[in-house]
Amino acid sequence: MTAAERWAEQLAAWAIPQHILDQAPQSPWAHETASFVVDDTLDRSVLSAEVARTVLPKEGGSVLDVGCGGGRAAMSLVPPAARVIGVDQDPAMLAAFTTAAAEAGARSSTIQGAWPEVVLEASIADVVVCHHVAYNVAEIEPFLGALTGRARLAVVLVLPTVHPMTAWNNAWHRFWNIERPDGPTSDDLVEVLEEMGISPERWEMPRPPLARNTADPATRVPSTLRRLCLGNDRADEVAEFLALHEPDWAAVHTVLRWPGDASSAMSFGTS
Ligand SMILES: C[S@@+](CC[C@H](N)C(=O)[O-])C[C@H]1O[C@@H](n2cnc3c(N)ncnc32)[C@H](O)[C@@H]1O
Repeated sequence: MTAAERWAEQLAAWAIPQHILDQAPQSPWAHETASFVVDDTLDRSVLSAEVARTVLPKEGGSVLDVGCGGGRAAMSLVPPAARVIGVDQDPAMLAAFTTAAAEAGARSSTIQGAWPEVVLEASIADVVVCHHVAYNVAEIEPFLGALTGRARLAVVLVLPTVHPMTAWNNAWHRFWNIERPDGPTSDDLVEVLEEMGISPERWEMPRPPLARNTADPATRVPSTLRRLCLGNDRADEVAEFLALHEPDWAAVHTVLRWPGDASSAMSFGTS
């Protein structure tokens, strides 16, 4: 089995049993926009930003942010980046991205759709960033290949060392008596890249601050109910459980950087 097949197989193991999904009041996989907006928690000095900044032009550079959410990855690079392009399948995230770019003083554009299906709509950028998206992607090789193909200088990809949903594994056991998977990991992603002939540079960093909404204790019960496919009638039980069992957030994030292979003749703004 190839590394890419192992990646897909491990992600498939996260499928939620149909009888649980059927009674879920809301999608357990959805991302809340408020959890990914640019706010005063954004730390522009984190390692992932430094790693991207060292390859960006000193001024006027461009950043393509794939799975951009509200733009925390791209906006931490403004300046020196002066132009940001956000790609996301969720229009609410793109609206937040546009607002954040205006507030940061960057020119911006957005593309709504699933990467890599929308790759041809995306102009080439100096640096392509992709934070906290890889674990959503079963067909990982074309996804990574398209990131590389749109980067003139480098791709910087960030992911927790372990799948973010492992934070609720104990809760799944408590409320549904089922065991959840614990893979894949960032090591598995590196194996996929190596199989593609890419040897990324690699760093580990502590988890950067969460957006204000995610860090707010008031959002923990509703978000846990959603992740666990439970209704509001279980809110008290979930609150009790969380008081004793803090979700086990991945404390370490992996930062990967590798060279882009887009032709410089097609650099952003001229393609
Ligand atoms: C966990 S959020 C991360 C947002 C942002 N990158 C950050 O670090 O704050 C993942 C985002 O990726 C988007 N997404 C997931 N898979 C995608 C795909 N294949 N193409 C485009 N967007 C995707 C989701 O809609 C969501 O906004």
